[in-house]
Amino acid sequence: MQTPSGHPVAPAPGARLVVLASGGGSNLAALLAAHDDGAYGARVVGVVSDKPAAGALDLARDAGVASVVVAPGDFDDRAAWNVGLADAVDVFRPDWVVLAGFMRILAPSFLTRFPGRVVNTHPALLPSFPGAHGVRDALTYGVRVTGCTVHVVDDGVDTGPIIAQATVPVLDDDDESSLHERIKVAERALLVETVGRVAREGLRVDGRRALVG
Ligand code: GAR
Repeated sequence: MQTPSGHPVAPAPGARLVVLASGGGSNLAALLAAHDDGAYGARVVGVVSDKPAAGALDLARDAGVASVVVAPGDFDDRAAWNVGLADAVDVFRPDWVVLAGFMRILAPSFLTRFPGRVVNTHPALLPSFPGAHGVRDALTYGVRVTGCTVHVVDDGVDTGPIIAQATVPVLDDDDESSLHERIKVAERALLVETVGRVAREGLRVDGRRALVG
């Protein structure tokens, strides 16, 4: 684990969000754009990545939000990495942990540290097309409508209770990149809206159903 970079965590009104991201961070950027509005009810207090080169870390730095890299290669094995990751997230005392393009599976040892408080955004209409290639798999299958899903994380791969979904049509000339870009537009709006509602109103999980409020 590298030492935290960026600025110290500031006292935050509302719910404390820790965002885990592996990539460019457009979903993180949308949350950062929303959190300055006091009425939003939630604030990103920390960003954690498994990749030192993740663009999300630059976004965090630019926004004055503390960030930390917890790279699997710095740990003996996946079990130790999960503990290290949970420790790094815990430092920020999160109310909610948001996986926004975090491309690794979290072990139960991580999830039990934040029970029912880890949510993920996925670029497909779950339960269809889980996993790392949701956009490609939907395109290859030939669906005419796909979209994005915000769900509670359980110990399966994209199997947790669904909080919200949005649809995106597949166009005849779409390739993976063009379709993903359109999904991301819908995804950013859905994630910001859903995380805000969950932070302000709370979340109840009843079997397979996740209900805000
Ligand atoms: C998002 O579309 C997110 O749903 C996806 O990675 C992208 C990250 O974009 N996550 C997964 O596929 C997880 N299985 P971003 O880095 O620009 O936010």
